[in-house]
Amino acid sequence: MEFQEVVRRRRMVRNYDPDRPVAAEVRDRILANALRAPSAGFSQGWAFLVLESADERARYWSATADSAEPDPWLADMQRAPLLIVALSHRQAYLDRYAAPDKGWTDKDEARWPVPYWHIDTGFAALLMLLTVVDEGLGACFFGVPPEHIPLLRAAFGVPEEYMPIGTVSIGHRAPDRRSPSLRRGHRPAEDVVHRGHW
Ligand SMILES: Cc1cc2nc3c(=O)[nH]c(=O)nc-3n(C[C@H](O)[C@H](O)[C@H](O)COP(=O)(O)O)c2cc1C
Repeated sequence: MEFQEVVRRRRMVRNYDPDRPVAAEVRDRILANALRAPSAGFSQGWAFLVLESADERARYWSATADSAEPDPWLADMQRAPLLIVALSHRQAYLDRYAAPDKGWTDKDEARWPVPYWHIDTGFAALLMLLTVVDEGLGACFFGVPPEHIPLLRAAFGVPEEYMPIGTVSIGHRAPDRRSPSLRRGHRPAEDVVHRGHW
């Protein structure tokens, strides 16, 4: 697919055909492309928890969803045959920037203008979303509610150092409900782009 077409077509898809798994080679390409994301100092402080079997996915949803009675959003999202949790690793950045070529040996987080570990993991997630479109599939990036993060860690043995910044559900698209947020429309360039001066 043309790159511009991938960007134009990308949207969050929130319902999937539960009977069509994501082919192994497609899953592997999605992950391989995530690993090509840029990262500060080439730290690559990220990790990806891949959940595919019915049991793994059921454990994800029971750890992260509020009630046994799914709302329409959850009922549709639970049909995704593939979930990839993207996790950022702050310590990898603090350690990387303490190396001689960077020299931030105090490992002080205040040196960082923003938490690049989250940003880089987000870049990787975007590459996954774009690869999914290129493969003709659908995906949605969504957050893990903070109060459920300990349960997610316990369910899958995720170390404390790793923070789930969000999950990407992936599968063959099924008709879904458009997010009401989309009524906001895309913000026009003249509102957000400042040329030469704010
Ligand atoms: C950081 C982030 C968190 C998001 N969290 C959710 C979420 O929890 N649930 C959801 O349905 N969509 C979530 N979305 C998707 C947004 O609602 C969606 O990107 C936005 O409405 C624009 O729609 P589009 O991506 O289809 O163009 C999230 C997107 C981002 C970037």
